[in-house]
Amino acid sequence: PRSIYFTRHGESQYNVEGKIGGDAPLSAQGEKYMEALPDLIKKKLGDTPLTVWTSTLRRTIQTASLLPYEKLTWKSLDELDAGVCDGMTYEEIAEYYPEDYNARDDDKFNYRYRGGESYRDVVIRLEPVILELERQENILVVCHQAVLRCLYAYFHNLSQEELPYIKIPLHTVIKLTPKAYGCDEERFTLPI
Ligand code: F6P
Repeated sequence: PRSIYFTRHGESQYNVEGKIGGDAPLSAQGEKYMEALPDLIKKKLGDTPLTVWTSTLRRTIQTASLLPYEKLTWKSLDELDAGVCDGMTYEEIAEYYPEDYNARDDDKFNYRYRGGESYRDVVIRLEPVILELERQENILVVCHQAVLRCLYAYFHNLSQEELPYIKIPLHTVIKLTPKAYGCDEERFTLPI
């Protein structure tokens, strides 16, 4: 059976600083993940063919850069657009946009950043990606926390209420194997 592999990009400079969004490069830790990923994937897949999908953002392209497989970049895999809050920390958002901060807390799935997106918006823009994922063989998707929450919720049939809170840790490959109903799941975490 074919499998779909999900991973977030390696830790980025913005992750270290607690800032959201942006287009930062990987941190030193993130580079270690980038370097360890080819062996992990090889160990799990052997010689099975694989295609790697990334977003258009540097941190995902960099994370996938050492993987010896065909690669495709998708704009639709870019991280949830935080609009005017892009590049801020959560503390800064709470300080400068307290109403927004609370509104997001009240309904995280539907809250849309000013000039940006909601989780609902991301689910909609992922439709073509999901359609293609359903038709393909083994795919490794290297993208972002919010986007992976949407993809993960789709394959595990999770609700809109749960979706924005799904835990997708850094430096972990999630393997989903679709069955007649639902998916089997395995996780491989690299000790970085
Ligand atoms: O902090 C990393 C990040 O991917 C941000 O770029 C993004 O805005 C955020 O996580 C999404 O998580 P949440 O919806 O919980 O704020």
